[in-house]
Amino acid sequence: MNDARRSAPATLRNREPILALLHTVLPPVGLVLEIASGTGEHAVHFAAALPALRWRPSDPDAGARQSIAAWAAEAKLPNLLAPLALDAANTDWAGMRADAIVCINMIHISPWGATKGLMRGAGAILPIGAPLMLYGPFVRAGRPLEPSNAAFDADLRRRDPAWGLRALDAVEDCASARGLTLDRVIEMPANNLSVVFRKG
Ligand SMILES: C[S@@+](CC[C@H](N)C(=O)[O-])C[C@H]1O[C@@H](n2cnc3c(N)ncnc32)[C@H](O)[C@@H]1O
Repeated sequence: MNDARRSAPATLRNREPILALLHTVLPPVGLVLEIASGTGEHAVHFAAALPALRWRPSDPDAGARQSIAAWAAEAKLPNLLAPLALDAANTDWAGMRADAIVCINMIHISPWGATKGLMRGAGAILPIGAPLMLYGPFVRAGRPLEPSNAAFDADLRRRDPAWGLRALDAVEDCASARGLTLDRVIEMPANNLSVVFRKG
């Protein structure tokens, strides 16, 4: 079982700053839906640190879901639920619910349709006032990209022309079209941002 566990070194670097923010953004109790959980290391870390919340990881990739399940089997956390097969670009959100949505490092490593689908889903299933928190690198109006983010953006676009760092303004417009209002933008280590929207 443990053979399925994947490891992403970045999660070890960013999990504490993200967790510190989650303490201030998430509701005290309820169900958190994590979109694009990847290895599952964040899910285990956050579920362990936030025991009053139920944490639902998800990923469209079967190998990622096996990794999440393997980490979860080892951690044995009562509030960490089984991973969902969820493609944000192509999900029927009817019947789903969550008290908060967290999406780390996805919107620049997927076509724009994934961001549009994420916003459609968040607008559909979040209760009024509930948060959608994004984390990752963004392009901000009037600010040149930091050299590390410019190189990352070029590399992403080389790998897939549909990928690339997203303009925060475009993400905000996309969210706004689904009834989500920008609440906070927080500068994070390594030139990343946390961006919190709330259902209006
Ligand atoms: C760079 S990894 C980030 C994983 C994890 N959140 C982290 O920070 O380590 C990007 C993840 O996005 C997922 N992904 C790509 N397209 C997606 C989509 N349309 N809907 C949901 N997840 C997607 C991939 O399967 C992958 O696990």
